Amino acid sequence: MTGTSGSTRGLSRRSFVRAAVAIGGASALSACLDRFGDDVPTATLAPDERPDRQHAWNEFLAEDDQGNVHTPDHHLLLGLDYVGDGPNDDERTQLAATLESVERAYRYGNEGLVLTIGYGPAYFDRFDDDLPASVDVPEPEPLAPFEDPDDDRFELDRYDALIHLASDHGHVLLSAEEALTGELDEVNGVTVAESVEGLFEVADRRTGFIGDGLPAENQSGINGIPNSDPVPEDAPLFMGFKTGFDRNQASEDRVTIQEGPFEGGTTTHLSKINLQLQQWYEQDSRDQRVAKMFCPAHATEDRVDGAGHNLGTDNQVGSCIDDAEDDARSEGMVGHAQKAGRAREDGDPILLRRDFNSTDDDQAGLHFLSHQRSIADFVRTREAMTGSDLTEGAVSSRTNNGILQYMTVHNRANYLVPPRRHRELPTPRPE
Ligand code: HEM
Repeated sequence: MTGTSGSTRGLSRRSFVRAAVAIGGASALSACLDRFGDDVPTATLAPDERPDRQHAWNEFLAEDDQGNVHTPDHHLLLGLDYVGDGPNDDERTQLAATLESVERAYRYGNEGLVLTIGYGPAYFDRFDDDLPASVDVPEPEPLAPFEDPDDDRFELDRYDALIHLASDHGHVLLSAEEALTGELDEVNGVTVAESVEGLFEVADRRTGFIGDGLPAENQSGINGIPNSDPVPEDAPLFMGFKTGFDRNQASEDRVTIQEGPFEGGTTTHLSKINLQLQQWYEQDSRDQRVAKMFCPAHATEDRVDGAGHNLGTDNQVGSCIDDAEDDARSEGMVGHAQKAGRAREDGDPILLRRDFNSTDDDQAGLHFLSHQRSIADFVRTREAMTGSDLTEGAVSSRTNNGILQYMTVHNRANYLVPPRRHRELPTPRPE
């Protein structure tokens, strides 16, 4: 671990935590605990008092100053390969005891821990039955003309399961990970009954963070970010703007599967996106950045102060969504949110985005994680965002086409997040 010197001590608290989460393991955990202690509230809800919808986090999460849901600062994604003999009921009991141990150890929310476990098409392939028609979780596919499955850098993930852990405390993620994988028998004063040993092996580990100031504190020396450290202090994202406005998120109801054995569940789409922000920060003007992220009218009418906290609870692209084609033609530019907004249904977005920044492998990126009722909802929104229909005038498939020029998708994955009652190694037809 670096960053423990006195000179960096005050400023680098959150960078230190970010680095510890990224490194993982017992020594990163003890470095964190030595430095910050382990003062975290234990659970107030018993595991079985928690909502059946695993993705029902919002009522337990904090609010930001504008009243939007405050997504936890730190995130950990564990891509898991199933190595058990079943799946059978003993294994289901083992997994339930494992997950409930970490749930008992931490309060449900930012100060403690929130989590989901989902299962990919590769997991369900081992059963004779297919998933019911009420569940739409296909194998991931390339979704834009410039995503090439023959390119070694582009991968379609085939993990059996994905655990998403989130907390405002990095050491909570590290402790929970150690407990889940059998490296700790007590977390936050609670005995860990079981682990995933013999059921899952961790095949992939991705980490990240989101929150005002975190990208600025963690930008130095990161590939894809200019050396001038240009990411503004008030931005929750590396690209310098606010996200997570309440009005521009699907509700938890809208992303919930409505019928069948997995009623109450949802789906996850996960992409790993690399960012290259040299041009973004060093050649584009502030107005261009605002126009490309939101819409051209946001720039001409000066609607965005700083990172956009002044927008309150609404990114305000509602008024420019219908202008996307006109803007492409006459302004030679179209905005990212403006384009993605074309996938709204009855005026509301259909994705619940829980994405976050990444510096994994010292590369600036974004783990784009969204929940939606069906993966088709994701595909529809991504097509609207890709905007292949908008390549007029100065807009090409990537140039001046929102933020496409600055991002490259390297991995894609889809998962079913069952309702809690079926979250342990479900069959495709659990009822
Ligand atoms: C580097 C990657 C990305 C960054 C930095 C980013 C950032 C943003 C920002 C700042 C906004 C406007 C504020 C807000 O409403 O949250 C936004 C809106 C949005 N983005 Fe992204 N985004 C990224 C990738 C994606 C991807 C891959 C999708 C999937 C299709 C997506 C879907 C959306 C949607 C649906 C909206 C809201 C549109 C509406 O208001 O209806 N974004 N994004």
